[in-house]
Amino acid sequence: MLQLQPIGYVRTGKSVKFQALHQPEETAAEQHVLEMVKGQGYEDGLRDLAGFSRIWLIWWFHKNHTWRPMVLPPRGPAVRRGVFATRSPHRPNALGITPVQLLAVEKDRLILGPCDLVDGTPVFDIKPYIPGYDSFPQETSGWTGGVDAALASPPAYQVDYAPLAQAQAAWLLTQWQIDFRPRLEELLGRDPSPHRTRRIKRGADGRCSIGCGAWRAWFGLSGQTVTITEFGPGFPLRFLHREGSEIVPDRAAQLAFLEHPFT
Ligand SMILES: C[S@@+](CC[C@H](N)C(=O)[O-])C[C@H]1O[C@@H](n2cnc3c(N)ncnc32)[C@H](O)[C@@H]1O
Repeated sequence: MLQLQPIGYVRTGKSVKFQALHQPEETAAEQHVLEMVKGQGYEDGLRDLAGFSRIWLIWWFHKNHTWRPMVLPPRGPAVRRGVFATRSPHRPNALGITPVQLLAVEKDRLILGPCDLVDGTPVFDIKPYIPGYDSFPQETSGWTGGVDAALASPPAYQVDYAPLAQAQAAWLLTQWQIDFRPRLEELLGRDPSPHRTRRIKRGADGRCSIGCGAWRAWFGLSGQTVTITEFGPGFPLRFLHREGSEIVPDRAAQLAFLEHPFT
């Protein structure tokens, strides 16, 4: 039997998958921490890492419990791909790899640059990133090449906010430090059409919405303009009051949101 034990856990402050980008945004001014498990001698294992400006993290998609042989990647056209031709979290052995900037080595923690891991992700291993071994810029990148080329062009849709959505977004930010706008603008600016992985759907009432972690944002489409009309909890009030609902991300914020008189 194969057994793996985490050597540490990342602290990224990104509590839901929606907030973590598909790959790290290299230029973002972000700092994260990898806290090593104590009492295992890992502090000595970190020796000599200083001097490497980048490391590989090998980690577990611990928020995923299923896998599929064909997956619908969130970026690009709605085409299913073989899971091994993607970086999807839905893998038989849910291992993630991220080459992340190493900003500092402290006694039993590493300070990291931008990364695509949610808070609390278990890390199994660290390896130095060595450009001479790990970088092959000439290689071809299959179906992702076309997607990257399309994403390099400006977004096709402009994303606006109706007054109610604007007031709600400002309240979420100031009261709860929750801000989905950059990711919403990126996703809806590219393509607001219904998509399972992007969690965009048209409801029975004909309204379109997108899941943002435990929240939803409703929007309308007119020509090339997407207007976000309102935000709301992804769970109904009766569910949020039910025993066991404590595990819903942002539950306290959702309850306060439902109490708040937005105008
Ligand atoms: C597309 S995967 C790529 C991960 C890694 N860079 C790789 O290539 O293996 C990145 C996404 O994984 C999701 N994610 C991050 N941490 C996770 C975790 N601990 N469990 C499940 N999903 C996670 C986030 O939604 C993020 O956008």
